[in-house]
Amino acid sequence: MKANQLRRTYIDFFRRHNHAEIGSASLIPENDPTVLFTTAGMHPLVPFLLGAKHPAGTRLVNCQKCVRTGDIDEVGDTTHLTFFEMLGNWSLGDYFKDEAIAMSYEFLTRELGIPVQKLWVSCFAGDQDAPRDDEAAGMWKKHGIPENRIVFLGKAQNWWGPAGQTGPCGPDTEMFVEFDQPACGPDCGVACNCGKFVEIWNDVFMQYNKQADGSFAPLAQRNVDTGMGLERVTAILQGKRSCFETELFAGLLGKLGEIAKTDAPGATRSGRIVVEHLRTAAFLMGDGVVPGNVDQAYVLRRLIRRAIREGRKLGVTQAFTADLADVAVAEYGTAYPALAQNRDQIRNLLQQEEEQFASALERGTREFNKLVDSFPAHVERKVISGRKAFYLYETYGFPLELTAEMAGERGFTVDTASYHDAYKKHQELSRAGAEQKFKGGLADASEKTAKLHTATHLLQAALRKVLGDHVGQAGSNITADRLRFDFTHGAPVSKEEQAKVEALVNDAISRDQVVTCQEMALDEARAAGAIALFSERYGERVKVFKIGDVSMEICGGPHAERTGTLGKFRIAKEESSSRGVRRIKAVLE
Ligand code: SER
Repeated sequence: MKANQLRRTYIDFFRRHNHAEIGSASLIPENDPTVLFTTAGMHPLVPFLLGAKHPAGTRLVNCQKCVRTGDIDEVGDTTHLTFFEMLGNWSLGDYFKDEAIAMSYEFLTRELGIPVQKLWVSCFAGDQDAPRDDEAAGMWKKHGIPENRIVFLGKAQNWWGPAGQTGPCGPDTEMFVEFDQPACGPDCGVACNCGKFVEIWNDVFMQYNKQADGSFAPLAQRNVDTGMGLERVTAILQGKRSCFETELFAGLLGKLGEIAKTDAPGATRSGRIVVEHLRTAAFLMGDGVVPGNVDQAYVLRRLIRRAIREGRKLGVTQAFTADLADVAVAEYGTAYPALAQNRDQIRNLLQQEEEQFASALERGTREFNKLVDSFPAHVERKVISGRKAFYLYETYGFPLELTAEMAGERGFTVDTASYHDAYKKHQELSRAGAEQKFKGGLADASEKTAKLHTATHLLQAALRKVLGDHVGQAGSNITADRLRFDFTHGAPVSKEEQAKVEALVNDAISRDQVVTCQEMALDEARAAGAIALFSERYGERVKVFKIGDVSMEICGGPHAERTGTLGKFRIAKEESSSRGVRRIKAVLE
């Protein structure tokens, strides 16, 4: 059975049992600040599980898009996914254990045709919060599941929820398919992950509401919440061990194979990560998430950047993420219209993110390798300091998790606690930096002039790139409306060179680089390669402003915190200032 047919069969079955079909909610939870994503079909239904009246009635069914990031590091094996579709049916104070189990049994054995002798079930073993679920076990037995294939397990296995920190939850009963392979040992059972048993469905009996203090209060309304992972069950029904072998990933893997010029990218860890992560990324962007540095935006960025890195491992050197996302949009756009509606936005965001990260990835990887290679071979504690990890984040946009993963591949770990310290310190420093008044050349310290000042640094970096390293600052003057920058250069800057400079500055702006400030000794600053004014007399200690991977300059500030806020940079005038010195006036629009 194909996934599309499974979706339809499931929904039709429950509609025949008087359930109303409801649409999939957004991946971004509307009313739950305790989680980043919609992680289960029940999630958008929490108010109704707690007793509010649902407009569609007390029996519901749907297919809900879900994202779970808890297992993100496992993705790449043959089973783990960050995005998946969950088939589910609900009773909102309507039927309870008896009918739920009867329908589950009927669906598995009659609709899906799974032989009863392949089925196992587990029920809650009981503890101080809730009794052993003999009731559920009795139902299964009544339907013909032999006693020796009904097992009782504790909270870790047979309790579900809440989805956030608080909310509806309860004991569950899980259904498993047994595969035709030897047990991995005497203790092998449904809870074992050797692959002999695969969970296919979960019926949760939601009778409790977990409170903020951790206690469980009985719910006034007893509900049923079930969840069946579409990808996993599709694979099982096709006799495959992995959803990457089903049609669900065929289009994406086919396209990746074309791009990477390899036959079977699905057979590699990297190939599976690329298609899995980009499918998730497309869905997130379809629901309005834009890559960034916090919360959902950061997860999205991590997914995209990890996919790009794995793409490199497959030998892909060109931009490729947008083309893969296109395949996901084409395949899922009908079932999930938000994807089709946002196709252009998804493409654009991916192109930008990829452009921004691709070159940094290369330089950052070189830097990373240098760092790792500099450790003497006999060192036992192979730890990358938080400061270095933060440096990789700040300069090359390496998410901490990416650095940790790269470190792991080389037998290193990352000191994450000190990374977070460095991150905090940096935030404080840039705040302090922004509060400092800048002495020379700056009329005031408004936000506007701070932005123009940051633009001046970008301009100088761009001029040095386009015209050469002989370019040095000869003077700077900033008003609220424009910057004026004088620099050493022997000839007029041609229109073409000006366009190149503009493009470089605007590129740095669109890559939203972080501006950081660090105090250090003058010698240290020069040794680090900070640009300084040769004629200037500096004190012993100086401030060094760094703009992502673009520029490093000794300077007093103040600056914008990020380049993304600057707007569009345009050169308004280029002229001679004095002999051997040119002058550029430029604006931010
Ligand atoms: N909420 C349960 C799960 O996610 C059943 O839908 O498994």
